[in-house]
Amino acid sequence: MAPQLAEPNQPLVNPATLPRFVDTLPLPPVARPIGQREHPAHPGRRLPLYRMEMRAFQARLHRDLPPTTLWGYQGSSPGPTLEAKRGEPFLIEWANALPTHHLLPIDHGIHGAEKDRPDVRTVAHVHGARVGPNDDGWPEDAFAPGHSLLYHYPNAQDAATLWYHDHAMGITRLNIYAGLYGAYLLRDPEEQALALPDGEHELPLILCDRLIARDGQLYYPVSDDPAAPWVSEAYGNATLCNGKLYPFIEVEPRRYRLRLINAANARHYELSLSSRHPFVQIGSDQGLLPAPLERMRVELYPAERADVVVDFSGLDGQTVELRQPSEPLLQFRVRNRGDKNAVSVAMPTALRAVPRIDPASATRERILTVGEMDDANGNAMMMTLGGHHWSDPITEDPLQDSVEIWSLVNLTGDAHPIHLHLVRFQILERRPYDLFAWNERKELKYTGPGQPPPPHEAGWKDTVRADPDMVTRIIVRFEGEPGKYVWHCHLLEHEDNEMMRPFKLLPKG
Ligand code: C2O
Ligand code: CU
Repeated sequence: MAPQLAEPNQPLVNPATLPRFVDTLPLPPVARPIGQREHPAHPGRRLPLYRMEMRAFQARLHRDLPPTTLWGYQGSSPGPTLEAKRGEPFLIEWANALPTHHLLPIDHGIHGAEKDRPDVRTVAHVHGARVGPNDDGWPEDAFAPGHSLLYHYPNAQDAATLWYHDHAMGITRLNIYAGLYGAYLLRDPEEQALALPDGEHELPLILCDRLIARDGQLYYPVSDDPAAPWVSEAYGNATLCNGKLYPFIEVEPRRYRLRLINAANARHYELSLSSRHPFVQIGSDQGLLPAPLERMRVELYPAERADVVVDFSGLDGQTVELRQPSEPLLQFRVRNRGDKNAVSVAMPTALRAVPRIDPASATRERILTVGEMDDANGNAMMMTLGGHHWSDPITEDPLQDSVEIWSLVNLTGDAHPIHLHLVRFQILERRPYDLFAWNERKELKYTGPGQPPPPHEAGWKDTVRADPDMVTRIIVRFEGEPGKYVWHCHLLEHEDNEMMRPFKLLPKG
């Protein structure tokens, strides 16, 4: 299913022709509260209030490109970085001040619910945050320009690299592609005690890919194929690092902490350093790993995060490139130390215990397919979870605080990054199975032993790569407030084409 792409109405920029490393790496501003307010659902407590206004603005993606119209938060894409501390709740007023016409083609044959709505709408979701059902960015709560929503963030969870992004029903792929994403860094005292690089030595680094037309405007790929009217994965050829193409940053010869976030619609990254130094990975989606891991390559599927430390000491006066997989994306220019003694602090050898959830504590295993199906006319596939559409009745209804195993049976030829809202989980194994037996008899027949996750995937996760030919089995404790949430594929084109399902957390007792 690779549809014929329509010719863009003007030629696209070939990024390889642009000079590299002429712009500095933008660091998104840190969001500041604008005051205090009470939330109607949490009376009697005034909490810090942030305001995040979504609006259109112009920015240069590269020195030699004309300005691009983007959508962002507070006039910035990535939006301002939200800094949160465990145990310190706050409120965010998400205000939609976007134009009433979308920047990108809003209807090109997508199947999903609300596909025919031509209107601009948006709703914000903090990816990986444990929040109540009314503060989670329920896709159908998306609201029009001129309106806003006040959300409550308890920040009652372990330190982690979270991120926020749009989640509007049926058009998430377009809203995020237009620029609606940013970092949300949650900290706690245990992590603080590790004395990891911080302040100017800690950099959020959000990656995504785009197609850019010669006039500087974003181009979202459109299909020309009536039998496959939607583009199943939107890939760009230009990689933006914090919203810039091929930027550079000056660094000191010491350790830096990089919060890597894959915000791409469909692209996965396999990052390495030109110096052939390893990344020292200290965390994954939901926070710290038990111990630092040296990794020559860091792989990130859409929505996955890696918290890494990179050591530039001894590289005085040299440059180091971040590569994907061999294309340089970002250049670090290491300053000469001179006579300042900027000696790097030592790395901790232990980070945070990640107690394994005992599979015997699971009260239920759900067998859930990750699949695709044809529409009523027998063409134009759509993607499904559990064989259901978004609008089918809820089938996943875990009990609050119970432990469940979700076995994701991938029936397709591609890997899908599957994300559950509200919870963190652990990967049990990926296990090969017999697709034929499933297709013929709906029989789940394993054909080999399960492979436990490698160490970098053995921490707390909220997004898991479900590989083809495999059943990817995860174990989840459903902590949180009862109500409706969603789970979905984070390939945004899939998500918008029915690969998203509600789940309902039932109250215990
Ligand atoms: Cu990154 Cu449903 O979200
Ligand atoms: Cu998918």
